[in-house]
Amino acid sequence: MAFCVAIDGPAAAGKGTIARAVAAHFGFAHLDTGLLYRAVGRRMLAGERPEDAAAALAPDDLADENALRRPEIADAASKVAVIPEVRAALVDFQRAFAARAGGAVLDGRDIGTVICPDARVKLFVTASPETRAERRFAELTGRGIAAEYEDVLADVRARDARDSARATAPLVAAPDATLLDTTTLSIEAAVAEAVRLVGAGRP
Ligand code: CDP
Repeated sequence: MAFCVAIDGPAAAGKGTIARAVAAHFGFAHLDTGLLYRAVGRRMLAGERPEDAAAALAPDDLADENALRRPEIADAASKVAVIPEVRAALVDFQRAFAARAGGAVLDGRDIGTVICPDARVKLFVTASPETRAERRFAELTGRGIAAEYEDVLADVRARDARDSARATAPLVAAPDATLLDTTTLSIEAAVAEAVRLVGAGRP
């Protein structure tokens, strides 16, 4: 069976950085599933029905990652992500990616619970809202996207609430996930711990 690593957690917890580093370390493919919802959110802001946008999503939609990282797109993503038809339209693509022969790392909100319940390793990455907002603020500023810390914190809290409260595939740790709280960890330490946990789960 293909080796799938599921990495879930709330906004800006460090999932993406950890997932990319784990994939590079073990030579696995990596899919940031949040980009799919962001791409649907962007199409909604452009006037499309989210259900139609999810059904029509194409590789080109993911090309401009910097634009997809904008805060207003993140907010739109968490709004389309509550729609069951949107989530259903994205399942097959994610499962096919997870089944890649060479191994795959997927990060998101429902990878260990819905997309890959049989993932060989499941991590639930968290950090305090303030720490996550500081990291996201630094990331946005580093990408040249203007932001205020207080706005970023409010956005992180609003999305956490929406992601946790939704009826379909809410943000929740799978019962068999390992919790990785990165509040007091440097990114290097968080990555090292994730690599150790994934290594321990390998055949
Ligand atoms: O990077 P960050 O953690 O801030 O967000 P993201 O992973 O890009 O996800 C953006 C939004 O998409 C989230 O707030 C969720 O509402 C939604 N999402 C989801 O519902 N399920 C996933 N597997 C991934 C993202």
